[in-house]
Amino acid sequence: MKLSANLAPRLLLTGGAGYIGSHTAVTLLEAGCEVTVIDNLSNSSAKSLEAVQKITGRKVSFHQVDLRDTALVEAVLRDEHIDAVVHLAGLKAVGESCEHPLRYYDVNVVGSLHLLQAMKAANVRKLVFSSSATVYGDPKFLPYTEAHPTHPTSPYGQTKRQIEVMLQDLSDSQAGWHFSVLRYFNPVGAHPSGQLGEDPRGIPNNLMPYLAQVAVGKRASLTIHGDDYDTADGTGVRDYLHVCDLADGHWAALQHLIDRASPEFSRCDYFNLGSGVGHSVKDMLHAFERACGKPLPVRVGPRRPGDLPAFWADANHARNELQWQPVRDLDNMCSSTWQWQQAHPNGFND
Ligand code: NAD
Ligand code: UD1
Repeated sequence: MKLSANLAPRLLLTGGAGYIGSHTAVTLLEAGCEVTVIDNLSNSSAKSLEAVQKITGRKVSFHQVDLRDTALVEAVLRDEHIDAVVHLAGLKAVGESCEHPLRYYDVNVVGSLHLLQAMKAANVRKLVFSSSATVYGDPKFLPYTEAHPTHPTSPYGQTKRQIEVMLQDLSDSQAGWHFSVLRYFNPVGAHPSGQLGEDPRGIPNNLMPYLAQVAVGKRASLTIHGDDYDTADGTGVRDYLHVCDLADGHWAALQHLIDRASPEFSRCDYFNLGSGVGHSVKDMLHAFERACGKPLPVRVGPRRPGDLPAFWADANHARNELQWQPVRDLDNMCSSTWQWQQAHPNGFND
């Protein structure tokens, strides 16, 4: 990936102790940026940031702050002389968002509103936002391009879309705001050091952490949620990308944003971050079996309510505009996950 030589911005990562945030912190520190993290640790451990510092040999300035505390967030922005924000903090479980929609609107939408108010007050006007492919909803065509209509089908997806609209409205209202909205597909994998990875609380909802826990003996077997879809092998198809490639995508988006920023105009750009290739549940199972060197127990269950049969990204816009594309393959996604899981069967509690 092409990196601008003399760019060393001071960045605020909201949600930087989480899965994607901690991997992104490594990339940004290794690129020479100064990194400050705010996180309320509601779904993470500060131990992830210890691992980040160990891997990079660089210091992270950490503040245990809730996104909705505007005054504290503003103070961090001012005290740390922040140039730009990478906004990853939020709640992300689709099922939970259906049970507790107000919690999701509060943390995700209200939290983002407070962050933007703090940024306005501190005159910080560049932000990269973690959105999701879930904003597209039922595919009208595949692969999804950024121009695909947005029809999110869960409260979680709605909150992501509403934040996107808020960013768009703000950039339309006044010159000087610069936003990059990153619509992630399915991030998986772990840092090659084996010291950083996904550490879900309770029973994992998502395929990759579930597979990893079956392989390490914490779960009895993988349940395939339906094998009667209209796909090549009947199981659901998704666009998986390595979390370290995703982290590189944030740096590419930040450079694009900072290089082009001007007080004369505003921008709000949208980028799909995916590999552009779909893999089925059985593809993932077989890749994980190769990585861990043993067959994994599996059963086929009914379809999971709300699941789409198949979707994947058209990632050409990111490739052309950001000069970004994923370089790590399915075997790397699985072997790095396995390395992390083996070394940390209980996540950061080990
Ligand atoms: P994560 O839960 O590991 O990280 C989110 C972090 O935000 C956590 O550390 C949590 O403690 C923190 N947080 C939550 N509420 C907060 C608040 N009110 N104030 C401060 N911090 C708060 O999740 P992740 O997988 O790293 O996801 C990061 C972002 O990417 C989220 O916004 C998520 O919606 C988005 N995203 C994730 C995926 C995925 O598959 N993991 C896919 C698409 C989009
Ligand atoms: C889910 C969320 C999505 C979120 C993404 C994060 C839903 C409907 N969507 O997407 O909003 O951005 O997680 O990565 O929850 N599967 C099994 N067995 C399992 C787990 C999953 O067969 O135990 C299958 C699913 O049916 C699906 C595929 O694996 O076909 C991927 O599932 P998952 O990892 O949960 O991701 P998404 O459903 O794509």
